[in-house]
Amino acid sequence: MKLTDCHNVEDFRALARRRLPAPVFHYIDGAADDETTKGRNTQAFQDADLIPNVLGGVEDIDMSITLMGRKIAMPLFLSPTALQRLFHWQGERAVARAAEKFGTWFGISSLATVSIEEVGALVSTPKLFQLYIHKDHGLNRSMIERCKAARFDALALTVDTIVGGNRERCLRTGFTSPPRLTPASAVSFAAHPGWTLNYLFREKFHLPNLDTHVDAGSNVAVSVADYFNTMLDRSMDWTTAERIRAEWGGTFCLKGIMSVEDAKRAVAIGADAIMISNHGGRQLDGSRAPFDQIAEIADAVGGQIEIICDGGVKRGTHALKAIAAGANACSGGRLYLYALAAAGQPGVERILGKLHDEIERDMRLMGVTSVTDLGRDQLRWRRPD
Ligand code: LAC
Repeated sequence: MKLTDCHNVEDFRALARRRLPAPVFHYIDGAADDETTKGRNTQAFQDADLIPNVLGGVEDIDMSITLMGRKIAMPLFLSPTALQRLFHWQGERAVARAAEKFGTWFGISSLATVSIEEVGALVSTPKLFQLYIHKDHGLNRSMIERCKAARFDALALTVDTIVGGNRERCLRTGFTSPPRLTPASAVSFAAHPGWTLNYLFREKFHLPNLDTHVDAGSNVAVSVADYFNTMLDRSMDWTTAERIRAEWGGTFCLKGIMSVEDAKRAVAIGADAIMISNHGGRQLDGSRAPFDQIAEIADAVGGQIEIICDGGVKRGTHALKAIAAGANACSGGRLYLYALAAAGQPGVERILGKLHDEIERDMRLMGVTSVTDLGRDQLRWRRPD
C-alpha cells in the first residue's frame, strides 16, 4: 500500500497503522473507555441525510468562508493536536505547510513539537494556538505572550480536558511522551525501522512551548493522562476563561463546548468562536457527537458566535451536513494525522486535496454555489430527537 492507494481517511488510517509502532498508532487512533463516542462522532453523520436541489447552475463554486476574522478557501480546517513529531519526523511543519497550500486554518497544541516562534515565521496561513491551563501560571502567561509576539491569529482554550481521559489502549501499550523503551514497545520499534531511525537520528523530540517551565513530556517520560492530571489546573472556571480572553486580547475560541448553556456563556464572556467538540471521544466516553449538538446550539447562539463542528469528519458530505445543520465550519484531528503518519507533508496534502475535491463536487451535487446557501431545508434526521 502506498500514498497513491489512499483515497480517503480510512485508507490513510490503514497505511498509518503499518508505518507506526503500535503505541504511537494507538495513541492517535484510541479514545476513552469503550470508544463509543469516537464511533458516534462519525456515525452521527450517517443518521442525517442530504436533500439535493438540481438545475441550480453550479458552474462556479465558491467554497470560501470567513472564520475567526480570516478568509479561508474551504470550510474545513486542521484542529490542533499534540506530539506530531512522533507521528512523522516532519511533524507540525508538514501540517502547517499543507494547510497553507490549501488556504485554511490549522492549529498547534500546547504539546506541539515545534515552537510557537518557528510556526509563526513558517507560514502566513491563519493559525491558532491551543492552550491548556497549567497550574504554573507563569507557563500560561509565557505561552500567551509568545503567541502574541509570533502573531498567532487566534487562541483556543481547551475546556474539555480538566482531567485525563481513560485511554485504555495507552494503558495497554504503555505509551508515554517521550516514548519509553519497554520490552513490548522495543519489539514494536524494531519492527518499524523507518519510524525508529527517523525518531533516533533526526531532530531530538521535545515540547518547546512547555519545556521552558516543565520537564515532563520532554525530558521525563510521562503518560498523557498523568501529564494532564498532574500539570493542569482543575480549578479552571468561567472566570479563568474570561481572564485568559482579556490577557490574550485577540480572537478567542473555546474548544470543547457541548451544551447550549455553555455556548451562551461563551457568548457572554465575549468569545468569538466555539468548537463543539468532545476531544475526538478521548475524554468523556458517552458524550454526544458534535454533529448532533449543532442544531440546538445554532438555534440558541447562531449569529452571535461562530460555531465549529470538531470531530468525526471523514468526508466532504460530513462537512456539508454540519454546515446545513448550522455550523460555520468544520475541523478535525485524526482526519489529517493518519495522513501525516502515513506519508508526511505529501500525505497531508493528499487528504486535504481529496476532502477539498469532495466538498466541491458535493456542493455541485447539492445544487449550491456558496457554502452559506446550505441550510436545514436540505437536511433530514432519520430519527427524531
Ligand atoms: C490528547 C491531547 C494531548 O488528546 O490533546 O491526547
